[in-house]
Amino acid sequence: MAFKHWPVVRDVRFALKCGRYLRGARKRRPDLNWDEFHRIARHFKLDDMGSFPERGYLFQLASDLPENAQVIEIGSWMGASTCFIAAGLKGKEAKVFAVDKFQGLSTCGEDAAWYNRHFATLGSNSTLEIFRKNFSDLGLATRAETVISDSLAAARELSVKRGGIDFIFIDGDHSYAACKADILAWAPYVKRGGVIAFHDFGSRADGVTRAIFEETKTGRFAEIVGVAGTIIAFRM
Ligand SMILES: C[S@@+](CC[C@H](N)C(=O)[O-])C[C@H]1O[C@@H](n2cnc3c(N)ncnc32)[C@H](O)[C@@H]1O
Repeated sequence: MAFKHWPVVRDVRFALKCGRYLRGARKRRPDLNWDEFHRIARHFKLDDMGSFPERGYLFQLASDLPENAQVIEIGSWMGASTCFIAAGLKGKEAKVFAVDKFQGLSTCGEDAAWYNRHFATLGSNSTLEIFRKNFSDLGLATRAETVISDSLAAARELSVKRGGIDFIFIDGDHSYAACKADILAWAPYVKRGGVIAFHDFGSRADGVTRAIFEETKTGRFAEIVGVAGTIIAFRM
């Protein structure tokens, strides 16, 4: 095991990095419940899908939504991003619809290899039970509903929600064609004034960056809400 993965070393690194992030976050947004963010971050100490600024930004975007907000996430994997979003929501009716087949779908070569390595370590070919356990361990289960489906099939299944969603987070298939198809399928679901955000903008996932750029140029999004790490958020 590499030195950085030793439990004590790992915990110290986590405490230092998270503490540094939280000091800045509390100054920037003293109105948000960063203790709740910290609780979720501690639970996902081993998570390698997002940085503190990215996880914090999702938490912030969710915290800024109106009461009982309705959220859709495309690509939930083990539920880390989903939990950070769910933790920021308020109101008994607030909900995140987590769309994923939970089998590491990808038409993007690098990602497929990465998922396969994870599945070999897990000894399973699904992340659904881990997703559910994370939500129940954190006491957030009532805030999430899984939609076990391919993204585009889910868009057809959830069609009654078109125009009624407060926030969509897209972090599914990172190929150009799939990201473009996700934007075309899901953008109409966001209500006017709502937010659509993407992970991996400007990252090694060139297709995601290209698809978002193209759609920005068509005027699909009203304005940029913000950027954190490789997350970019737009207002519709
Ligand atoms: C990068 S992971 C998501 C990570 C998660 N959002 C997080 O930050 O913790 C991408 C996920 O998208 C899912 N995915 C890829 N293509 C998809 C598709 N066409 N429909 C639904 N889910 C898809 C994969 O199964 C995988 O779980």
